[in-house]
Amino acid sequence: MGYILQTESVIKQYKQYDAVITAVNRVSIKVEEGEFVAIIGASGSGKSTFLHICAGLDKADAGSVKIRGNDITKMSADELGRFRGNNLGFIFQKHNLIPQFTALENILIPTIMCNKEDASYQESLRKLVETLDIQDRLSHLPSELSGGQQQRVAIARALINMPQIIFADEPTGNLDRANADEVLSLLLKTKEVMGQTLIMVTHDLSIAEHADRIFRMDNGILSLERDYLDPTKKTINGY
Ligand SMILES: Nc1ncnc2c1ncn2[C@@H]1O[C@H](COP(=O)(O)OP(=O)(O)OP(=O)(O)O)[C@@H](O)[C@H]1O
Ligand SMILES: [Mg+2]
Repeated sequence: MGYILQTESVIKQYKQYDAVITAVNRVSIKVEEGEFVAIIGASGSGKSTFLHICAGLDKADAGSVKIRGNDITKMSADELGRFRGNNLGFIFQKHNLIPQFTALENILIPTIMCNKEDASYQESLRKLVETLDIQDRLSHLPSELSGGQQQRVAIARALINMPQIIFADEPTGNLDRANADEVLSLLLKTKEVMGQTLIMVTHDLSIAEHADRIFRMDNGILSLERDYLDPTKKTINGY
């Protein structure tokens, strides 16, 4: 059985003055297709660093990261850019929308980067915009949207190319309870409609508990916090 994501002994160190910080310390994980994995852990424990490495946004010092069997640590910058655009979606804690672009233009950035033809994304655009309920906001600038709407636009941008795997770093981190719950349920609804794998870093245990498995990062070391609730139904998260 091939895993959609498989890392082997990933290490990342930062030098600060004389000290060396091991932000990610020999982390290995195997994620099944369609799974929802949550990663929790204290501030500074290495969650974002690990997620960025898995998505090819940052380079590991050692170890391998395979997505559907392709080792992204061995790809050239060009190859990696193309691979990321076609296979991965990333949702940042701070949505990172481009302020001068409208919501629609922001959503379409990945299609431009991958030279997608209009026809190939129109259907996913329609579905996403409808599921995320942002039809009426498409011509607005990010500054004219609420925090929750901005995050929904960022989700649409991460999903527009129909990536098989979505990485989300605290996607609800700067939203209030009601908006966080709404964004999460929209994300899980979209995941269900489109069938992707979701790897999410979150501080919020009430969100993590919806995951198929929960991992904890502690000082750069990843351990399993809660296994599949029903081991016979590996990819059902019952949300
Ligand atoms: N560019 C960098 N240069 C130096 N040290 C860094 C850098 N990025 C991260 N670190 C250090 O690596 C460690 C892990 O940071 P990381 O951002 O991955 O933590 P985190 O678990 O995501 O924390 P938070 O929950 O606050 O977002 C921290 O000690 C941090 O200070
Ligand atoms: Mg972080």
